[in-house]
Amino acid sequence: MTNLPSGWNVTRLAGALGAEIRGPDISDVSADDVAAIKALLLEHMVLFFPEQAPSVDAHVAFGRHFGELEGHPNLKNAFLDHPEIFELAAEQGGVADEWHTDITFQDSPALMSILHMVECPEVGGDTMWSSLYAAYEELSDPMRELCDGLTALHDALPHNHPEQMAVHPVVRVHPETGRRALYVNEHFTRRLVEMNATESDVMLRYLTNWVQNPRFTVRYHWEPGTVAMWDNRCTQHFVLNDFVGQRVIQRVTVMGDRVEGVNAPRWEPWVRPGRRSATSRHDRQLHFWLKEHQPGALGERKSVFEGDL
Ligand SMILES: [Fe+2]
Repeated sequence: MTNLPSGWNVTRLAGALGAEIRGPDISDVSADDVAAIKALLLEHMVLFFPEQAPSVDAHVAFGRHFGELEGHPNLKNAFLDHPEIFELAAEQGGVADEWHTDITFQDSPALMSILHMVECPEVGGDTMWSSLYAAYEELSDPMRELCDGLTALHDALPHNHPEQMAVHPVVRVHPETGRRALYVNEHFTRRLVEMNATESDVMLRYLTNWVQNPRFTVRYHWEPGTVAMWDNRCTQHFVLNDFVGQRVIQRVTVMGDRVEGVNAPRWEPWVRPGRRSATSRHDRQLHFWLKEHQPGALGERKSVFEGDL
């Protein structure tokens, strides 16, 4: 349990994760406040601070207490011109209604996101988070052992940039808690590197559905002015696209460190044997990633897709 500054109140919101914090003013935090918030975040994974409504500058200043900030690599802000804030407006298509961890198509995905709900509907537009610790810990022993040895390719296809790719361990070890998290998501994770295409499809569908199990989740109903922060190293989230009207969020993103697995991948990357054929297309993206990053893994197969694109 975290030692709290006086006057702070913590209310847990679900069995798996999530807590509402009343007491701090995030526009004016002390070093002790920041330390307490860091400890609370490690404990609860997602925190909600109602009735804050920070200015853009205060929001950015609060974020800087937790690390270096970065705007979004692919999406433009809806209303603001500020390089460290990322803004989404529902009326411009900004509803993230697919389960994901932010920006996993980068080598060092976001470590933490801090969101200010600027405008929201009275009903609908809730956000859900899922604990990737719980998702991992409740797998069976053989499934955990298999996942511990695998890596997965993530890409920015949802942002129309499939060429932006990164490979991460399927099981991530949290650098501060040492706990293991199931680190694949339906939005950005495309392929298990060590498996053939059909095996990868079945396994990824299973694992990315599994993390959505309601027992691993918390669902939050927003009020304007609420600030939320979540640990991207052990959670996924999802916005319910069930509302009419406008919903505007502003977010700062604390940049991450590299994703560490339990150990090195246990098997070699999958390389399709035999001649090129119609089904080769399922291996094309993995082939191009390997060609750029691990050409030795391809051996004789280095040029099998040349002329395909
Ligand atoms: Fe997100």
